[in-house]
Amino acid sequence: MIGIDPDRDRLEKIRKAEAPFFEPKLKECLADTIAEGVFSVADDSSVNMRSDLAYIAVGTPSSEDGSIDLTYVKNAAAAIGQSICDTTHYQLVVVKSTVVPGTARTLVKPVLEIESGKAAGKGFGLCSNPEFLREGNAVRDAELPDRIVIGGEDVDAITRLENFYKEFHGEPTPPVIRTTHESAELIKYANNAFLAMKVSFINTIANIAERTPNADVKAIAQGIGLDERIGSKFLNAGLGWGGSCFPKDLRALVRYSKSLHYDPELIEAIVATNEKQKRRAVELARQALGSLKGKRIAILGLAFKPETDDMREAVSIPLIRGLLTEGANVVAYDPAAMQNARAIFRDRITYASDPCGCLDQADCCIIATEWHEFKTITPRIFLERMRHPVVIDGRRIYNADEFSSEGIRFMGIGLGPKAS
Ligand SMILES: NC(=O)c1ccc[n+]([C@@H]2O[C@H](COP(=O)([O-])OP(=O)(O)OC[C@H]3O[C@@H](n4cnc5c(N)ncnc54)[C@H](O)[C@@H]3O)[C@@H](O)[C@H]2O)c1
Repeated sequence: MIGIDPDRDRLEKIRKAEAPFFEPKLKECLADTIAEGVFSVADDSSVNMRSDLAYIAVGTPSSEDGSIDLTYVKNAAAAIGQSICDTTHYQLVVVKSTVVPGTARTLVKPVLEIESGKAAGKGFGLCSNPEFLREGNAVRDAELPDRIVIGGEDVDAITRLENFYKEFHGEPTPPVIRTTHESAELIKYANNAFLAMKVSFINTIANIAERTPNADVKAIAQGIGLDERIGSKFLNAGLGWGGSCFPKDLRALVRYSKSLHYDPELIEAIVATNEKQKRRAVELARQALGSLKGKRIAILGLAFKPETDDMREAVSIPLIRGLLTEGANVVAYDPAAMQNARAIFRDRITYASDPCGCLDQADCCIIATEWHEFKTITPRIFLERMRHPVVIDGRRIYNADEFSSEGIRFMGIGLGPKAS
């Protein structure tokens, strides 16, 4: 097994069995596979990509207009095509990257055919096989996916990929959905749009609950989540969603839909709701402290979610920028994302070396990511460390009654005012 990437810094780290980013269990996986000699890496200029199975898993970043930039996909397909042009070897090519419907059929296939001089279905096979893993849980999700989606127009190629997964996963093999390229590509977007919709939905309910005496969105989420038709996952109200996938994928879905002359109003509303939600913590801080000028605000959590150091489109970025614009002094801590945060904020904020130190002399603390280690900070620690004990629980990790009864001004997303 060989991983190919033009980024030499990444390759160097992987060769030393160092994961180029933080992801639970990844370091151990790398160490094992490299030590066993079953995995190596190379840059794209130094290796022939001919293999039994080649995955295209390159980035598909957003362009200015929300569409995805397919340059990397095209380049990867061209390199694979060139590597099989002078052989009789059958190559199975799999598109793992998240791509809009039509990409496999109208971009990847012709590029492979031109570069290889072979016809799809004869000299090589092509499948769409979107990836659903969650950052922070990637290794487990790769080992035990909820389902495997395989799209294509060539039954033989789909069967070969399905057989590969049967062997890889053993019994019981996760459910396999066999479909067209376009449905497979659209399943990925529909999946992420639905998950983002659940979060934006509960955030909308949270905003209604905040204006409703004695209401608490956590109880509401529990109440609706037990309805089997709804389910309890992705119903945690908070400061909004971010990350490398949801924002990019929803923008791409909107753009793709508009290219078909259909206005996807629901999807646009999911995005607009989230943009508004990202500003909520600054509004709450202003509500608690009045002017934020010169106030020391502690931010606990910078990564877009726990168990990752990924700060791509993290909610903490607009949050911190909003606080800085209001003249606040920001001190921040994250268990994994400090290096990435320094690259973004440089010397405009202060970096704490531990969560409790982050609270020292703060006028307000905002929980921006629900890391487990923050859950163990007791009300007493907030009271002892902070100048003014104001806690804005942007991820609802604390017991509101406990914090309030200890004398903390506690504001939680989706928590209505107490009234009798
Ligand atoms: N990150 C996730 O959790 C996740 C989950 C599901 C799907 N996806 C999708 O997977 C794709 C990759 O996502 P990512 O977060 O890993 O992106 P990334 O930008 O972090 O990594 C992409 C890698 O591809 C490399 N690359 C670029 N051109 C190449 C080429 N021609 N040959 C070989 N390597 C090349 C880059 O150097 C980079 O290391 C995207 O389409 C994304 O939407 C990501």
